[in-house]
Amino acid sequence: MDKTEKLKDGTEARIRKLVVEDIDRLMEFYQALPLEDRKYLKFDVTDRKVVAKRLLRVENGDDIRIIAIHGGVVVASGALELSGEAWSRHQGEIRVIIARPFQHRGLGMIMIRELYFIAVQNNLKTIVAKMMRPQVGAQKIFRSLGFREESLMPDFVKDIKGESQDLIVMTCDVKDLWKQLDRAFSESDWQRCR
Ligand SMILES: CC(C)(COP(=O)(O)OP(=O)(O)OC[C@H]1O[C@@H](n2cnc3c(N)ncnc32)[C@H](O)[C@@H]1OP(=O)(O)O)[C@@H](O)C(=O)NCCC(=O)NCCS
Repeated sequence: MDKTEKLKDGTEARIRKLVVEDIDRLMEFYQALPLEDRKYLKFDVTDRKVVAKRLLRVENGDDIRIIAIHGGVVVASGALELSGEAWSRHQGEIRVIIARPFQHRGLGMIMIRELYFIAVQNNLKTIVAKMMRPQVGAQKIFRSLGFREESLMPDFVKDIKGESQDLIVMTCDVKDLWKQLDRAFSESDWQRCR
């Protein structure tokens, strides 16, 4: 996959699969994220060793990752993480991060739509989204796409500062997601994105 998409304001971004050789531009993207946006992530993405290890999962086919690029710079990253466990082989966990200057321009929705296409190609049946309670933007975007809150685990995870946080787990059936994505794009006069 390698395509150019228009954001709500007409800015263009190239979206393609992430490859191991992208590590330098990916680190630049992560390091520019404000603490508020990386505080609740699963991993310390400013640590190159951690990121390199995560990229090995892409090479091994354990995760599928995409990036959005504008002006040669990574402006968003998205992933479908596959657990590798037989009992959850029909599931993919979705992760999306958008650079601050590119937030609220529809890029999050575009990244989720591209990950949806990848989920269909990989015959996944369920998409899982996990987030900490303060990640309100993420909760809103997934809820608007029909994701259901399946569980709220109090103080279950720790943020980057070491503070306990509630973990929210949301799921969505892949077969239902297209209807919601289609509605989201057409209601926002986003025909050009399809
Ligand atoms: C959550 C996130 C991915 C949204 O990306 P985005 O590109 O800003 O989202 P979009 O512009 O496509 O917005 C789509 C909808 O999501 C909702 N939304 C997005 N950010 C929001 C926020 N901060 N607060 C409330 N609602 C928000 C809105 O309903 C929005 O629709 P609208 O613009 O028509 O009101 C982005 O804010 C981000 O990267 N946050 C930090 C990392 C994170 O929490 N990732 C999720 C981990 S799974």
